[in-house]
Amino acid sequence: MMRIVILISGRGSNLRALLDAAEAERWPAQVVAVVSDRPDAAGLAVARGRGVATQVVDRQRFASREAFDAALAAAVDALAPDLVVLAGFMRILDAGFVQRHAGRMMNIHPSLLPAFAGLHVHRRVLEAGCKLSGATVHFVTPDLDHGPIVIQAAVPVHADDTEATLAARVLEREHVIYPRAVRWFVEGTLHVERGIVTQLRGEPQWLL
Ligand code: GRF
Repeated sequence: MMRIVILISGRGSNLRALLDAAEAERWPAQVVAVVSDRPDAAGLAVARGRGVATQVVDRQRFASREAFDAALAAAVDALAPDLVVLAGFMRILDAGFVQRHAGRMMNIHPSLLPAFAGLHVHRRVLEAGCKLSGATVHFVTPDLDHGPIVIQAAVPVHADDTEATLAARVLEREHVIYPRAVRWFVEGTLHVERGIVTQLRGEPQWLL
């Protein structure tokens, strides 16, 4: 059984989608823990409700970024994960940690990367007048919101969209593509070469 650790900071809707899929599709993997950097993250209750162990590494309790990074890395490494899944984890991870988990850590970002990396994605998409947006699951590299792309989903941008309506449309697709990407990983059907990810069974790495 592969060991998955999921890192969250908030709501936990992607976490819920992942736990649902893991159970329904009987993945050969176990979510061994959910780790949050915030004690008030709603996703912690989602995990507990499913009987998944939780840990909090509270950023507020550390005097420096370095001390927090070290504690987070120690907590995650002690869980011996085969895969680290960032599901709405809102902190930039330290480069040493990222490198140690290279090829074994995924993130989801609510845009069609490499466009709109960073924060306030939906506002920036609307301001740019984009007609399509979407979500991307990618392997994590030290370069924020970049890294080999596993799967992308596209959604239309409507003329009357607000940040909230666009975010909701994208989020619904996130809940489809993130479990798919993680399932591929635990099944061993992803191949990465020179930054390009291939799904070895030819399943589509896009969703329209
Ligand atoms: C999602 O939009 C995800 O793309 C971004 O943070 C949000 C997390 O939402 N990285 P949730 O906590 O999974 O509900």
